[in-house]
Amino acid sequence: MPSQPLRSFASDNYAGTAPEILEALATCNGGGAKPYGNDDLSLTVTARLAEVFECDLEVLLVPTGTAANALALSLLTPPWGAVLCHPSSHINTDECGAPEFFTNGAKLLTLGDGADAKLDAALVQGAAQCKIGDVHAVQPSCVSITQATEVGSIYTPSEVAEIGAACRAAGLKLHMDGARFANALVSLGCAPAEVTWKAGVDVLSFGTVKNGTLNADAVVLFDKSLAAEAGFRRKRAGHLTSKMRFVSAQMLAYLENDRWLAHARHANAMAKRLEDGLKTVAGVEMTGAPTRSNILFVKLAPHICAGLLAEGFAFYHDRWAPGVVRLVTSFATPEADVDAFVAAAKRLAG
Ligand SMILES: Cc1ncc(COP(=O)(O)O)c(C=O)c1O
Repeated sequence: MPSQPLRSFASDNYAGTAPEILEALATCNGGGAKPYGNDDLSLTVTARLAEVFECDLEVLLVPTGTAANALALSLLTPPWGAVLCHPSSHINTDECGAPEFFTNGAKLLTLGDGADAKLDAALVQGAAQCKIGDVHAVQPSCVSITQATEVGSIYTPSEVAEIGAACRAAGLKLHMDGARFANALVSLGCAPAEVTWKAGVDVLSFGTVKNGTLNADAVVLFDKSLAAEAGFRRKRAGHLTSKMRFVSAQMLAYLENDRWLAHARHANAMAKRLEDGLKTVAGVEMTGAPTRSNILFVKLAPHICAGLLAEGFAFYHDRWAPGVVRLVTSFATPEADVDAFVAAAKRLAG
């Protein structure tokens, strides 16, 4: 069955898989290979990511961002620990309790209420001092931040470093949910190392699915002492893929020739184009800060919102506040879809 034309700004998960990644899958399909990550391709993934991040590290490939986050957190907190995170974080709102499940019951403690969905060092310092050693209270164990955040905002390397320093001072580990890591990275224009381990991140959920792969996300361990435990936890959680070569082939094709960065640049550029176009439409109100990644929020007059939906554009609306719409672009968003959306909004605005 032919797939629908994209016309979607609902989520970067609506996009297909990048053609080069599908080619890589077809290429590794011939013959046989050792299972469970012992094939030649899988054995090169860690070295490839070590080059990208300019450090020694360990990598566990997993099929979803939720698996990456939940496994990562299970390495960073005991069951009586607390994971400090923003109320809007994906781990808190959209993972069906997987972090609590994988950590054997650790508690997610939400901090801050900023519309930008970001934590800062002061919030971490405040929470880290709470009820330490009190047997009646969960004990802060780690901090989780999202890069780029659920609302598309971005932590600068120095903001991450300040949080990293606050974590170290309080004996907490730092996790980064990088489901949209590439989008943040190209927006910042910095090296992957600068905004991760050099800034104090211990474990990164390195997302690739939203940016072009089919099912190749990764837990990147900058603290290699966690690797042995991580291996057992991944298997026990049912996320050790037997035909791992297909996952590894995707990751290698994703990184090849900086494809991942080109994809993210395209997604971010499409969000900017959408924002610039919508700014000129009466009946569309820009909300929040200008977009820095591939997500933006706008407020649409009800007849414009209804009209766009009726014309087949997909997007989430009214979940955040009445009339507020979230628009997300991806590596596969055609310029023509952006222009058609803006033109339709203009026409509907009359
Ligand atoms: C910020 C963030 N983290 C993690 C995920 C992981 O998602 P999934 O488990 O659906 O791959 C998502 C997906 O929407 C996300 O937006």
